[in-house]
Amino acid sequence: MEIVIQPTPAESTAAAAQLVARVIRRNPAAVLGLATGSTPVQLYRELIRMNLDWSRITTFNLDEYIGLPADHPQSYHTFMRENLFRHVNIRPENAHIPDGNAPDIAGFCGEYERRISAAGGIDLQILGIGSDGHIGFNEPTSSLASRTRIKTLTRETIRDNARFFGSEAAVPRHVLTMGIGTILEAREVFLLAFGEAKADAIAAAVEGPVASTNPASAVQFHPAAKFFLDEAAASKLSRADYYRWVYDNKPDWQR
Ligand code: GLP
Repeated sequence: MEIVIQPTPAESTAAAAQLVARVIRRNPAAVLGLATGSTPVQLYRELIRMNLDWSRITTFNLDEYIGLPADHPQSYHTFMRENLFRHVNIRPENAHIPDGNAPDIAGFCGEYERRISAAGGIDLQILGIGSDGHIGFNEPTSSLASRTRIKTLTRETIRDNARFFGSEAAVPRHVLTMGIGTILEAREVFLLAFGEAKADAIAAAVEGPVASTNPASAVQFHPAAKFFLDEAAASKLSRADYYRWVYDNKPDWQR
């Protein structure tokens, strides 16, 4: 794992954006796994600004609420359209988001997994992290081998996301999410986390034992994972000095 610590979210995002752009430039038909939430918004802005060619890019989003109309202001369909898709030349048929209104949810989940495989698997998965350590919507005690399926949100996540919905009561209880097993099959994983509210979750994910009680700790099993943090999110890492040392001493060929 590589832990990139930058002073501010903007600098950390810029570092991640450069590497995402490199993946797109090197492979114009890359398959990207995308995340929602406030954390990747700036990343998408940077990618839009870079004027990349998305005409052959395929994307798969991690998750979606169940039962929200796709055009609801807080659906992840709306989030992706507003924050990325309508600003780039991606083909609508290449941008996949779980369908939280599928009549047969279980059937849809299997189909989503098949679509990811048919596209050749995900080259690069972008992740955020919940304050309870969730990735996608894989809440604590999610199986580390889980696949795309329905999940029930924790009260903590409902509280965290109430700010987008105006009240806790308005946050859907159920969601569809890629599983941890699905996420770990991506060839590369970038996890972004900023702010002090994420510091405990990041310390547990990077330095804690791997456990289903901290879903993000499963990323320790991934052979090519990078964490992009600001100082606040990194503030509870006991080996932060080592991670900075590694970054500052990267061999030229690895930069
Ligand atoms: C949401 C999303 C996650 C996201 C997390 C953190 O619940 N399903 O994919 O990583 O919460 O959100 P934020 O970036 O707004 O803190």
